[in-house]
Amino acid sequence: MNAPATLAPPPAAAVAAEAAIDPLELRRCLGSFVTGVTVVTALDDEGAPLGMTVNSFNSVSLDPPLIVWSLRNSAGSYGVYSRARRFVVNILAEDQIEVSNRFARSGSDRFAGLAWSRGIGGLPLIDGCAATFECSTEATHPGGDHLLFLGRVERIVGSGRKPLAFGAGKYMVVHPYDNAKNASPGTSNVASLNAVHLARPCLEDLNRETDKTVGLGVWGNCGPTLIWWIEGSQPLDLRLRCGMVLPLLGSATGKVFAAYSPPEITAPYLEAEIAAAARGEGSDFASRAAVDAHLAAVRERRLGAISDAVLTDINERGVSAFSAPVFDASGAIVLALTMMGDARSFDAADPAVERLADAARRLSARLGFQR
Ligand SMILES: Cc1cc2nc3c(=O)[nH]c(=O)nc-3n(C[C@H](O)[C@H](O)[C@H](O)COP(=O)(O)O)c2cc1C
Repeated sequence: MNAPATLAPPPAAAVAAEAAIDPLELRRCLGSFVTGVTVVTALDDEGAPLGMTVNSFNSVSLDPPLIVWSLRNSAGSYGVYSRARRFVVNILAEDQIEVSNRFARSGSDRFAGLAWSRGIGGLPLIDGCAATFECSTEATHPGGDHLLFLGRVERIVGSGRKPLAFGAGKYMVVHPYDNAKNASPGTSNVASLNAVHLARPCLEDLNRETDKTVGLGVWGNCGPTLIWWIEGSQPLDLRLRCGMVLPLLGSATGKVFAAYSPPEITAPYLEAEIAAAARGEGSDFASRAAVDAHLAAVRERRLGAISDAVLTDINERGVSAFSAPVFDASGAIVLALTMMGDARSFDAADPAVERLADAARRLSARLGFQR
């Protein structure tokens, strides 16, 4: 095996143009390039395993098989990696967030209690990864405050597990975009995968533009169901759960589904909630007539709302929420986009509510809804 070569540093002339770059903006923009997450493992001078979380990994060449990653010059293990003749890139699977965190934390024994085996040269292969690349160090190259490693791939193992992703400072799971092509727009009022796929980036935009907590509801097999949400920067202390079934009359999401879904689907739920209200539990709607009048008003505004509400087991402080329906090409409601805020500062006059309604209208149009 050849000793790793060290290439010449870049010409100084390249540095001047970087002066105007705002470091925070640079980080933010780099974060829009979503990557996988890896742990690069090696052996230290005493033969003890070491590893660190790295997302600067990328492919370089297929023939010969070469990959690249970069190491911060100030990393505690810089010396060991820069001398290492070999390393392993362990591509983490989507359920290995804990592994990523433990190899990014300093000070702890990163291998304690971890399942791993030894690969070529006795280097650590972490169990449960999506893939491993066992590499020899082909070259290193100084790159500003990082050192680049060019690795020659000598053995690969792929497990078929789905990879963990990382972008904008957050862990992510990946869903193939192709699923959206294959799913036909919703039938009756069951949300199709296509609608959900399209709704997520739309809600991300809404959250970024309004800084409100936004959520996505579908009609599940037990009624209106919250399947996803993103919090605004002011936490609402809501104990939300993915798959949480919401009341039809006591939640904004429920109200839009109650207003637009076929009555034969909603009737059993509404009757149960009206009966509960008559016993003094749940919503204030103690008669069918009151419910019908309210749902007509929801259709009139195309907006479900709850104001200063406290939901059992979800929140203690009053929350106001608005929910807008999303329709598919057949005119059936497939989703509800919901926006939540602290009741003390969020009401119907907030311009964010109109943006919510607009987002739902645009999403409906993309799903082929024509009215
Ligand atoms: C998702 C993620 C990706 C990271 N990518 C890199 C990277 O590419 N290069 C790097 O030097 N550090 C990266 N880090 C930071 C290191 O994992 C972290 O600084 C580590 O604790 C360094 O170990 P050491 O200083 O104990 O050697 C990343 C951290 C996270 C959470």
